[in-house]
Amino acid sequence: MNILENNKTNYKLWADKKLQGFSNKLDDLIVEIDNPNSLSKSEKAMMHRIINQHNIVFFQINKGVDDVKSSIKMLASQVGLGNYEIDSKSDSDGLTEIKIHDNIKTDAEYIPYTDKQLKWHTDGYYNDDDNLILTWLLFCKNQSENGGLNKYMDHEIAYILFNENFDNIDDLMLNNAYRIPKNELNGREAIDNPIFSFVENKLHMKFSMREKNIIWNDKSKEASKNLKNIINDSDMYHISHKFTEGQGVITNNIIHMRTSFTNLEKKNRLLYRLRSKQRMRA
Ligand SMILES: [Fe+2]
Repeated sequence: MNILENNKTNYKLWADKKLQGFSNKLDDLIVEIDNPNSLSKSEKAMMHRIINQHNIVFFQINKGVDDVKSSIKMLASQVGLGNYEIDSKSDSDGLTEIKIHDNIKTDAEYIPYTDKQLKWHTDGYYNDDDNLILTWLLFCKNQSENGGLNKYMDHEIAYILFNENFDNIDDLMLNNAYRIPKNELNGREAIDNPIFSFVENKLHMKFSMREKNIIWNDKSKEASKNLKNIINDSDMYHISHKFTEGQGVITNNIIHMRTSFTNLEKKNRLLYRLRSKQRMRA
């Protein structure tokens, strides 16, 4: 449904359906996959059904596979992901190992590669409109010992809850709602972005709770504070899950965070990530 073209009645129907259909039970959100190299019709259909409703779908690969990285790429391409972001940490296909890197820079964008907590954010909130991350996938190769719990919140629900409480959503849709200053480490220029926008008729969110190096527009400052409170205080709409080996998740770049963690004595937590500039499609 295109909420851009909707009147108040249709918006309410959409919002009510969204909130009533919410589930934070893993059983409602996960698909068991027999062979990631060749998804069955029903596995694919189930993945599409779940992500269409919740903007998130978990998956569990039941059997061991020979080449995990290649199987994850195969799985992703079968549900329509592609055009991956390539960065300094990814391989040439765009697959990135999320693990502790030694001597990591202290900039907020590099915290994924440490054992520290990651605050609520969407991926690529510092990207411009030509490089929007519409969907991302994470897959757990090795789990942590303690911590490393992920929390997720559907950004469409955050948008609905904001509208229930405030009447200035437009302040979050300004093209310069916030500014990320020039990144001196990688040379990326300063960028202005909206928090909420519509991309291909679907709500897209760019957001971070980082406190340093993010400059809020005078108009959006108050609204962004209110949005942060909504996200922090909406436990009932948080989905919490700690990955175990063989589990993964695909989301329409919904808001997420990670608690700090410790590694098992002989195994480092290792996740694989793909950031796709296109959404899942049948
Ligand atoms: Fe992230």
